[in-house]
Amino acid sequence: MAIIAPSLLAANFLQLGDACAMLNKSEAAWFHLDVMDGSFVPNISFGLPIIEQIRKATTKVCDVHLMIVSPEKYIEAFKKAGADILTVHVEACPELANTLSLIKAQGMKAGVAINPNTDITVLAPFIKDIDLVCVMSVFPGFGGQKFIETTYEKVVALKQIITAAGATTLIEIDGGVDANNAAALVKAGADVLVAGTTVFKAADPIAMIATLQQS
Ligand code: DX5
Ligand code: ZN
Repeated sequence: MAIIAPSLLAANFLQLGDACAMLNKSEAAWFHLDVMDGSFVPNISFGLPIIEQIRKATTKVCDVHLMIVSPEKYIEAFKKAGADILTVHVEACPELANTLSLIKAQGMKAGVAINPNTDITVLAPFIKDIDLVCVMSVFPGFGGQKFIETTYEKVVALKQIITAAGATTLIEIDGGVDANNAAALVKAGADVLVAGTTVFKAADPIAMIATLQQS
């Protein structure tokens, strides 16, 4: 059984309230909220005011994925907007240990996302301080991309790092997750599956979430 974190990036932004109501009724335990700045990634999504509104529309876990440069400047602002988990990219954090402790000092769980072409071993020295590793299974910036198959090996290697350290870090997979790869990802060690297109383009999103959850 995986934790399912639907990505609102794939929702109709004119009907975000309906999307939140649908997710509230579903078995999704988390909402995945993708913040893009047009600098760290070549796309711009949404930011603090939208997250504030989504926070008011759910009591589920708000899992905020920052694809932005200098994320340490915005930690307090995302806490105020309602984030429960704040995930920063290792590639955007020259002082990762410090950034993680700033996130925790605000009472949030600290996540670290890692791009497909970044070696997973860079996280080993920090693993005990990381609540969640978000393994990118596409290059960040856009929903609806094809899942990168080498993700499985990366998840297995990450699981070994976590186990060797005696850490309790959760493994989240983000990008191209669908009903065909979900079970194999959980078998490889994934705890949390992000799904945007697969959920929001499904004929029955609630049934799709249940299918993914049972992986
Ligand atoms: C990509 C985002 C993902 C994206 C996933 O940069 O981090 O969370 O919304 O979308 P799908 O599930 O459509 O690949
Ligand atoms: Zn994401």
